[in-house]
Amino acid sequence: MGEEGQRTVPDTKIVTALGDITRFPADAIANAANTSLLGGGGVDGAIHRAAGPELLAECRGLHGCETGKAKITKGYHLPAKYVLHTPGPIWHGGGRGEDGLLASCYRSCLELALEHGCRTVAFPSISTGVYRFPLDRAAPIAVEAVRAFCAAHPGSFDQIAFVCFDQRTRDAYDRALGRG
Ligand code: APR
Repeated sequence: MGEEGQRTVPDTKIVTALGDITRFPADAIANAANTSLLGGGGVDGAIHRAAGPELLAECRGLHGCETGKAKITKGYHLPAKYVLHTPGPIWHGGGRGEDGLLASCYRSCLELALEHGCRTVAFPSISTGVYRFPLDRAAPIAVEAVRAFCAAHPGSFDQIAFVCFDQRTRDAYDRALGRG
């Protein structure tokens, strides 16, 4: 094809940020939920507090979610239009398919984001808190899963952000992105 015929597909920007995901501007934010989808501590608790009680009411109607899968709700009082609830794997030493389940969390969220026309998505560091998944093992899995999904769906997203609550977490994702 001639120059004019070439369509360069804009790459998706994949970035890290330091801060509170409940205040991060994105079409959809992911929630490191549990399989009940009825709230909890950590980022799950923060998202429910910021979104307001309607979020829990909608979640009650979802009847839970399997580890590695994702379900979508509205964002209510959050800046984000949608919340992508995904239960990450609890770390049991790595012999119970934790790596694959973690990658599946990111893929499942991006599939839902794509279906709902989201151009920007933000993720917390799924499973690396209460679920004790080692951070330096989780970050490369997360980055690879996001990169592979974006490569398979070119031009589908403008930006994917890993929103990290502390510098140590952000450094791990920057290293995984090859930037630190
Ligand atoms: N914004 C961004 N990241 C946050 C925020 C926030 N407001 N609050 C916590 N985090 C970070 C944590 O510091 C950690 O890096 O989110 C990451 C994931 O930690 P958890 O929230 O503990 O999630 P996870 O390890 O997946 O455990 C999930 O914890 O809260 C319960 O209901 C949840 O049972 C589920 C379990």
